[in-house]
Amino acid sequence: MATETPPIAQKRLLIVWWSYTGGTESLVQAAAKGADEAIAQAESAAFGDTGRGSSPDASSLSVMACRCDLIGSDALLRADAVLFATPECLGSMAGPMKTFFERAYYPALDRLNGRPYATLICAGTDGQGAARQIDRIANGWRLRSIAAPLIVLTGAQTPESIAAPKQIESAELARASELGGLLAAGALLGVW
Ligand SMILES: Cc1cc2nc3c(=O)[nH]c(=O)nc-3n(C[C@H](O)[C@H](O)[C@H](O)COP(=O)(O)O)c2cc1C
Repeated sequence: MATETPPIAQKRLLIVWWSYTGGTESLVQAAAKGADEAIAQAESAAFGDTGRGSSPDASSLSVMACRCDLIGSDALLRADAVLFATPECLGSMAGPMKTFFERAYYPALDRLNGRPYATLICAGTDGQGAARQIDRIANGWRLRSIAAPLIVLTGAQTPESIAAPKQIESAELARASELGGLLAAGALLGVW
């Protein structure tokens, strides 16, 4: 007798990002990789060799990293968890990221309550202002913070070093990967 395979619920982790000189972008790539690895690990721990199709609670999670100028509130509303990633500029999040929030804020208001989020900031020497701004907006959306903002400092503060392409140290990439992994595993397993 043929047995019906239960449908697999597809969840989504959305990474919304901006980068001018590549630092945030490298961190986003690391976070996405960490998320993919955590998903593979969680699925193999939960389902082993039997496969996801054998469990009535089976769900999967896809990771999408989207530049903030290319998406709007629709992408947020489809996401089960969100990572916001931006450089700090003039004590604030980068302009395109702010524009993203301005476009998405009211269309998404009261429609994201309780969803988990985390923040990743790439900054020269500070980063706190950008992190605070995003926390305030996320608070307005009633998102649930799952970790303290990850702030990665590049040390750039002269015009030359600010304009230069950024190389992020492997220890910092590892922290970004860990954050992506934490957000993905928690969203997949529904722990928040
Ligand atoms: C216009 C401008 C303003 C900046 N202002 C700040 C700032 O207020 N605080 C800070 O820590 N870094 C500041 N920076 C440095 C950037 O945050 C840093 O270069 C970061 O690595 C950029 O990330 P990205 O490589 O993803 O573009 C500024 C950079 C630019 C271009």
